[in-house]
Amino acid sequence: MKLVFFGAPGAGKGTIAKKLYDIYKIPQVSTGDLFREAIKNKTELGDAIAKIIAEGKLVSDDIAIQVIKERIAKQDCSNGYILDGFPRTLIQAEKLENLAPINIAVFFDIKDEEVKTRLCGRRICPKCGRIYHIDTAKPKIEGMCDDHEEKLIIRPDDREEAIVERLKVYHRQTEPLLSYYKKINKVEIIDASKDPDVVTSQIIKKIKIKD
Ligand code: AP5
Repeated sequence: MKLVFFGAPGAGKGTIAKKLYDIYKIPQVSTGDLFREAIKNKTELGDAIAKIIAEGKLVSDDIAIQVIKERIAKQDCSNGYILDGFPRTLIQAEKLENLAPINIAVFFDIKDEEVKTRLCGRRICPKCGRIYHIDTAKPKIEGMCDDHEEKLIIRPDDREEAIVERLKVYHRQTEPLLSYYKKINKVEIIDASKDPDVVTSQIIKKIKIKD
């Protein structure tokens, strides 16, 4: 099963992809995570994209496509994957359909106000990438990862100015994918404002119906 998760920043794509991995063992392939890893490791790619990401802008289509192409060619993707954050432009979506056609694109439907609250309160474990929220997904010990002795961090693009920019970019460049996937009859829309377990079961139902 090849799935795409798309929707506004902070809609919960990463949170739900991790939950589905626990159930189906389909790997989550997140371009955002791959880019952050490159930045952390100070690779040539990482140095070139750090500022773009911190400002909330999009990395070029060519780079995003190249990164995803290399990642989905790996062994763990042979039985499918969940693409989280890719495609993000029409060019990326069309390229993906030529390269490795997907089964279902899941659109995470949510209002901007809700995603702002989610992103402002998001905290991440720098070691394992586990996602927390200061109100809705608290760690056992405040500010610490439950699984590692690591202090939780705030992503540089979760600053207010970057969030505003990311939402603008999202509405301009990524939201049009909804019409694209409707046209090729591959979209399922879910209400992403619900509790994570409810969102997960909505997706499981949609996947089963299409099976
Ligand atoms: P990326 O990492 O993909 O960021 P994003 O799309 O902005 O999405 P997020 O990771 O911010 O949010 P999410 O939907 O995964 O939400 P999460 O589960 O964390 O990309 C980062 C950057 O990389 C981009 O801005 C761009 O520069 C670049 N990039 C990446 N891909 C690219 C591409 N293809 N082309 C070009 N550039 C690219 O949840 C958010 C918070 O809400 C958490 O605190 C969580 O606990 C909470 N939460 C989650 N679900 C719920 C729920 N149901 N109810 C209540 N709280 C919830």
